[in-house]
Amino acid sequence: MANTILVGAQWGDKGKGKIIDVLTEEADVVVRTQGGNNAGHTVHIEGKKYILHLVPSGILRPKKVCVIGNGVVVDPVSLVEEMQGLQKLGIKFNDNLFLSETAHLVFPYHRELDAQRESLKGKNKIGTTKRGIGPAYGDKAARTGLRVIDLIQADRFRKQLEFKIRENNEILKAFGAKPLSFKEVHESYRRAGDYLKPFVANTVILLHEAVRRGDDVLFEGAQGTFLDIDHGTYPFVTSSNTTAGGACTGSGIPPHRMDRVVGVMKAYTTRVGEGPLPTENDEIADMLHAMGREFGATTGRPRRCGWFDSVATRHACMVNGIDELAVTNLDGLDSVETIKVCIGYRDASKKYDYVPNDLEAFSRCKPVYAEFPGWRTPTDRARQWKDLPAKARAYLKAIAELTGAKLSIASVGPGREQTIFP
Ligand code: GDP
Ligand code: IMO
Ligand code: MG
Repeated sequence: MANTILVGAQWGDKGKGKIIDVLTEEADVVVRTQGGNNAGHTVHIEGKKYILHLVPSGILRPKKVCVIGNGVVVDPVSLVEEMQGLQKLGIKFNDNLFLSETAHLVFPYHRELDAQRESLKGKNKIGTTKRGIGPAYGDKAARTGLRVIDLIQADRFRKQLEFKIRENNEILKAFGAKPLSFKEVHESYRRAGDYLKPFVANTVILLHEAVRRGDDVLFEGAQGTFLDIDHGTYPFVTSSNTTAGGACTGSGIPPHRMDRVVGVMKAYTTRVGEGPLPTENDEIADMLHAMGREFGATTGRPRRCGWFDSVATRHACMVNGIDELAVTNLDGLDSVETIKVCIGYRDASKKYDYVPNDLEAFSRCKPVYAEFPGWRTPTDRARQWKDLPAKARAYLKAIAELTGAKLSIASVGPGREQTIFP
């Protein structure tokens, strides 16, 4: 399979979890390289549903090695809860999960600051997951963060945490928020540290050894291109590089060891949180929500929905170097009579065939649509390309062509078997 980077081509929640699970069959190692437990990756296997936040989705296949890389921000208490939840579902952790020593930690003051900043912004809020991701990456960039390697060294951790709680309680007081108890945070983090210690490793060396052996490594992207801190709809973004480059910096594996980039997108578009979404459409949102679909895997919020945006996706293909596209949730369009696809934007008399950087201009943009006839037949039982209705095949081919990448996977349901390789 070669070393593969998998990224979300749009705003997150595109079915990366499912596609990772499918691709993991051929991989030896699966690595998360950025983001934190803001991610929610859903995988359905034989009637069981798993939602992964920090643990790579590869853990669901026995004998695969999973790595939480240096670029991830880790809330250790929440990671332990996630691991224990997975164990209850029968997943085993024995020499198959490694946590980077140099991954930064998320603390309760990060979560509290995330919530306070959001509430201060009022209607201009980002709509974050309130998992403390922005403030944790903020500490990392300011060189004031604590890392996994600190957590597992009891004396050093105590001193560092004392200082951090004192510093952050001053900030929380200024917001009018309740200060944190050092004792409580320390106890819960030390407990998590003891639990996680056997999993902690120098993951850069571990990954290089795997690459040298010829293992196939799969880089599990979180979020999506337009949530990237550099390439997204700033400030309505997350705080990490969600694009392909993040896989290198977040793992220590250099660019020339990467063999391919797979972009995952839905057959339509969704977004949770605030920020522009030019193709947003109430009718398609109501239809999908009525089907019980498109509720956030992390926060349960209803996702905003719209038509497929080929301009945004083409941009995503460019900045990620996407060679192959995986299009999920084709079945979500099964009952639509006429399907629209955005092929350009218009802001008053100005036309765009690219995503404008000026957020105000992008927010004013109205989509220019091409229309495709719907197939109006269920596709969820299709297992091969030829099983799909001709109109569905034509739609998939057209959106791939518009974005300039090769269609390599089409998904017609959440299950492993509902995957078609055209
Ligand atoms: P991720 O964050 O990109 O991993 O995506 P999420 O797991 O947050 O959201 C994608 C949702 O779509 C999940 O509930 C998946 O089980 C589901 N899903 C993935 N592919 C398909 C598909 O082809 N059809 C249907 N019906 N659901 C899918
Ligand atoms: P997965 O990996 C969709 C969004 C939030 C908000 C913005 C910033 O499941 O695709 P943050 O908490 O990161 O500071 O929030 O980013 N967001 C996601 N949207 N899927 C995700 O992850 C997301 N992670 C963050 O809704 O708009
Ligand atoms: Mg998700």
